[in-house]
Amino acid sequence: MSDSPVSSSDQHEQGSDHQHDHDHDHDHDHEIAHPIFATLYDLAPESRLLAPHREYLTRDLSGRLLEVGCGNGELFPFVAEGGDDDLEYHAIEPDPYMRRRAVRNAREGEVAVDLRDARAESLPYPDDAFDVVVSSLVFCTVQDAEAALSEVARVLKPDGEFRFLEHVRADGWRGAGQDALTPLWKGVAAGCHLNRNTVDRFVGHEAFEAVDVDRLEFGLFPVTPIVRGTLRRRRTERVDLSALGTPFDP
Ligand SMILES: C[S@@+](CC[C@H](N)C(=O)[O-])C[C@H]1O[C@@H](n2cnc3c(N)ncnc32)[C@H](O)[C@@H]1O
Repeated sequence: MSDSPVSSSDQHEQGSDHQHDHDHDHDHDHEIAHPIFATLYDLAPESRLLAPHREYLTRDLSGRLLEVGCGNGELFPFVAEGGDDDLEYHAIEPDPYMRRRAVRNAREGEVAVDLRDARAESLPYPDDAFDVVVSSLVFCTVQDAEAALSEVARVLKPDGEFRFLEHVRADGWRGAGQDALTPLWKGVAAGCHLNRNTVDRFVGHEAFEAVDVDRLEFGLFPVTPIVRGTLRRRRTERVDLSALGTPFDP
């Protein structure tokens, strides 16, 4: 990793206004700010069971890395361990209470990270900017998961990797229980949905091919199952509609 000091930006990007399925929250314009959740998340000791999966996300990193929704920076020490000396590490986090803790944790851990105030649905980076994008425990909370995934595809280089660790909706009665609990859970867990079919969304996306998808045997109901994996950005041509000259009028 480079040894430049931690930097952060207060630029705020609004999410896009796509309409999607029931996963979509109609609160793009609402501020994301959860002081109590951020305090508890930072104070609570992280389960040691997560460590091997954070290592999976951060193994053999080189080039340019983006972490979406880095929270308080739980992944920072793993990136420092898994990244080579020239790794360029970028992260976004929209919640100021999380971001403040991430800045502190990066300084204390001497992790060089360019941390910005932005949402996954509207990433402040050009196309093809990153070799690897990682998300851990974020797609349960983003306000528009489809828009966020499209943004991940946009900023990844062809053949770049999207590595993820996410909890998803369970099958059978557990899934029905998660459906019932989610409205309450969202209120106490900073917008987290227990019942998103995140992995189906990931592996079904045309911009990606699935390299690796593993359902993990840990986690406690209702935050289970947890799935980790890697998608590879396909080598497809990007079509720039604005270059065609005729405005698109649906
Ligand atoms: C459960 S925390 C996970 C934090 C961290 N990734 C980790 O593994 O510990 C979920 C994070 O997603 C962030 N988040 C919420 N909405 C987001 C969005 N639209 N784009 C990016 N991050 C978002 C939250 O602020 C929070 O920091």
